[in-house]
Amino acid sequence: MRVILPMPGNEKLARALALDAGAELGVVEARRFPDDEAYVRVLSDVRGKDVDVVCTLARPDPQFLSLVFVANTIRELGARTITLVAPYLAYMRQDKRFKDGEAVTSVHFARLLSSAFDRLITVDPHLHRRNSLDEIYSIPTNVAHAAPLLADWIKANVENALVVGPDGESEQWVSAVADRAGAAHVVLSKRRFGDRNVEIKVPDLTGMRGRQPVLVDDIVSSGRTMIEAGRLVEAQGFQSAYCLVVHALLAEDSYAALTAHFARVVSTDTVPHASNAISVVGLLNEGR
Ligand code: R5P
Repeated sequence: MRVILPMPGNEKLARALALDAGAELGVVEARRFPDDEAYVRVLSDVRGKDVDVVCTLARPDPQFLSLVFVANTIRELGARTITLVAPYLAYMRQDKRFKDGEAVTSVHFARLLSSAFDRLITVDPHLHRRNSLDEIYSIPTNVAHAAPLLADWIKANVENALVVGPDGESEQWVSAVADRAGAAHVVLSKRRFGDRNVEIKVPDLTGMRGRQPVLVDDIVSSGRTMIEAGRLVEAQGFQSAYCLVVHALLAEDSYAALTAHFARVVSTDTVPHASNAISVVGLLNEGR
């Protein structure tokens, strides 16, 4: 028997996962004591069951302890297996000690999660210098890929699309999206100088004029990459671009900046947000 247990804020996705899989939807009570310590209580019967804890890790710090407390409690209550379903997996960027004394947080975070859960399911983790999550996670990991979903969205919603990847790293991914969507594609080059400072170079797109640019990326955080790429593409004589992203982290006021710039801003529901238009429910249940 499978129980799907949402951490606070993940109820919508968990309900859809349970419905799709014919699984039981569990309940966790979570609140804060007056001094901000976390209180959690597992209200579902988990003894002997396979429990999926659903918790996207878009803003992991405030919820991390509660997540581990829930995992530990489920284990004490006799669950058979405990899987973390984290549609967005945090702490992937700092995968190397760039400067003396820096924390390599991707390794530390992986170690912490691996000690609390039996398995991890996620969507398109941002692997920079790693080939696989298995290099840092000691538990089995299942990685689902959203590229086919983005491609199908483009096919259904955009005529004559030009799929644009903002950086060289995205080449393979972007060409796969474009091929499946039956669209053209181009990949830009990007250099990052700081959290909100990127330089992007765009090749000559004269031959692509008349197409609808669709910028695709795995993550939008500050929004600087997408906005700068969109601005430079449009400067070559294109109409206002679409912005299509897997993980809508959308820090601070970036969503307002994106909606002011792009004709459409669309994301998958790995991170709950007003821009969600593509569901990863089927993808996550297949990965199960
Ligand atoms: C980086 O390699 C990623 O693919 C994204 O391009 C990046 O995380 C976007 O960040 P921001 O929205 O802050 O420019």
